[in-house]
Amino acid sequence: MRPNGIIIAIDGPAGVGKSTVGKMVADRVGYSFISTGKMYRALAWKALELGLDLEDDGALVKLAGSLKWGFPKGKGPEAGVSLDGRALDLEITDERAGKASSGIARLAGVRLFMRDMQRQAGVPGGVVMEGRDIGTNVFPDAELKVYLDASPEARAERRVGQLRGQGLEADYAQILDFIIKRDAQDSGRKNNPLRKAEDAHYLDSTAMPRENVVAAIERLFREAVKP
Ligand code: DC
Repeated sequence: MRPNGIIIAIDGPAGVGKSTVGKMVADRVGYSFISTGKMYRALAWKALELGLDLEDDGALVKLAGSLKWGFPKGKGPEAGVSLDGRALDLEITDERAGKASSGIARLAGVRLFMRDMQRQAGVPGGVVMEGRDIGTNVFPDAELKVYLDASPEARAERRVGQLRGQGLEADYAQILDFIIKRDAQDSGRKNNPLRKAEDAHYLDSTAMPRENVVAAIERLFREAVKP
């Protein structure tokens, strides 16, 4: 057992609710929550700000190494990731950062940098970590692995609801198209593609209310920590 508890790895495709569910599970069991997607988004956002070439693995790794990364805790949107002391949320949630993050996440150097940082943050345990490769690559020895899935249509519908709920415009067909393209890029890449770990629990949340997904993961957690 690790000093602070086990590692709960939640992987799955874009827009499946890994962050919402992961945060809720972390709250329920008193663990911290780390969104590794936010890390890729933060680096992509910074690179866009600086006008860096998003195909230049070396330059991106150098940039990543020059930044002061923080993982602020809390329940609000400010929780997650900060760069040089600045908490990032809205600036990294839009589709531009999403697309760019999926692009830079193909690069071997960027992935190694992220993996090392994620390992350092998670190795003491007591953490819920969500991403695409947590159970397969970052923590293949995680004590509990969940692969959260849902149909692309269900994910697009949820995203539309979320955006409209925030008073923003949302086009279902366009969002579905983004989701399908991102799935293809994240699953089709050479370096640590999105994949269910063999020993991960598969949860299809297409027709499942969020609360039930959280309850199911909490049950798996209780089993995993049972003496
Ligand atoms: O989960 P998200 O949409 O915020 O992630 C943004 C992108 O980052 C995603 O399209 C692929 C990449 N990513 C990754 O390759 N590995 C992770 N562990 C997390 C995210």
